[in-house]
Amino acid sequence: MKDDYSFIAPYYNRLAKMVFGRKLQEAKNCFVSEIEVKKILLIGGGDGMDYREIAKKLHGQYWEKSQSMLELAKGNLSESSLSFHLGEFKPDGSVLFDEVWLHFVLDTMEDQEISNLIAFLRSAIKTNGRLYFVDFFEAKSLWQKGIQEVMLGFFRVFAAHKRKNIPDYEKLFLQDGWVKSEEKNLMKGWVRAQIWSHH
Ligand SMILES: C[S@@+](CC[C@H](N)C(=O)[O-])C[C@H]1O[C@@H](n2cnc3c(N)ncnc32)[C@H](O)[C@@H]1O
Repeated sequence: MKDDYSFIAPYYNRLAKMVFGRKLQEAKNCFVSEIEVKKILLIGGGDGMDYREIAKKLHGQYWEKSQSMLELAKGNLSESSLSFHLGEFKPDGSVLFDEVWLHFVLDTMEDQEISNLIAFLRSAIKTNGRLYFVDFFEAKSLWQKGIQEVMLGFFRVFAAHKRKNIPDYEKLFLQDGWVKSEEKNLMKGWVRAQIWSHH
């Protein structure tokens, strides 16, 4: 599989911190609770840097499409009990998870890819399990709109992203029968952390 993040993987976290400070890390950690008793499925976790403080409590599976990101995550999360997997997650029915984390990964996918993934995930989550989703939504201010345009262009050039816009995530979740139960807005709602479940 081609590694679209091989060029930016070593700089990714530093760049994100330069532009957003600790806001993205905050969004990825704001709904973390009782993880020591949960089996977690992390998809597209990147270099894993922002989970280092909770690494010791993490167990479950970590899936990354980029070999470079996965290698960094193995180092950053070496104290965790996660198993690390290269490629795209496909449920095989053998393991059910308490929680799935999709943090800043759906915005890299086409609508159809998002729909396929969240439909797969229904069969990978326990009955009372939850999906912890975090991503960029429509930019609010002029400044945010400018940064968003630059980011979309940057990732198209350096990480082969296909999208030119932000997905309508909520429509796709609702179409697939998911229900939103919690939400935290950061940066006036440009970044949102949400909890979804499927009954
Ligand atoms: C924009 S980066 C975000 C990384 C990390 N979540 C963060 O917030 O720093 C998106 C990551 O998702 C990975 N990715 C994209 N599609 C994926 C898929 N279907 N399965 C696993 N990883 C995927 C990419 O390789 C990349 O590392």
